[in-house]
Amino acid sequence: MVISPQFPDQRAEAFVGRRDLYITGPLGRGIHGSVYLTSAMTAIKAHKESTSYTRELACYNRLRERNVTEICGHHVPQLIAHDDLFMVIEMTIVTPPFLLDFAGAYLDWPPDFSPEVMDQWHHDKAEQFGKRWKEVQNVLAMLTEQSDIYMLDVNPGNIMF
Ligand SMILES: Nc1ncnc2c1ncn2[C@@H]1O[C@H](COP(=O)(O)OP(=O)(O)O)[C@@H](O)[C@H]1O
Ligand SMILES: [Mg+2]
Repeated sequence: MVISPQFPDQRAEAFVGRRDLYITGPLGRGIHGSVYLTSAMTAIKAHKESTSYTRELACYNRLRERNVTEICGHHVPQLIAHDDLFMVIEMTIVTPPFLLDFAGAYLDWPPDFSPEVMDQWHHDKAEQFGKRWKEVQNVLAMLTEQSDIYMLDVNPGNIMF
């Protein structure tokens, strides 16, 4: 029986070991996991929790089914491999402009937040993205149109220009 290590960095190591690859360096870090560059010039994201792993994997599968490789000129990573035990997703590396991080995205239906919560979300995001907010809204609308993915966890690290 294979036991999955507790920490994302240990699970990332276990994942690359199984694929005869190795980690060449860190690529990024966020609230849901740690992202590394591999010897195959791919990105791997080791999730902290199964909910975000399952969500993100479902989105990448959907994007693959619908052949979505870019949204309004923003490159979208392509799914290469994944491991449910280690909660790791391997994907292509993208360069800006890009759209990534579906760990907090919803498939098929938007979350049922109250109008007050959504108003606050709009206000906060408009402030965060400044003059880019209109473009970000276009990207999000196109993402939903093409893939039925509703992305609320947007920040300048996930939608980069
Ligand atoms: N496929 C990728 N190609 C290039 N950079 C990436 C890729 N995936 C993640 N990154 C980098 O790592 C950062 C953190 O990844 P992200 O998926 O946003 O993690 P979290 O869900 O924890 O926020 C991103 O903001 C980005 O800079
Ligand atoms: Mg992120």
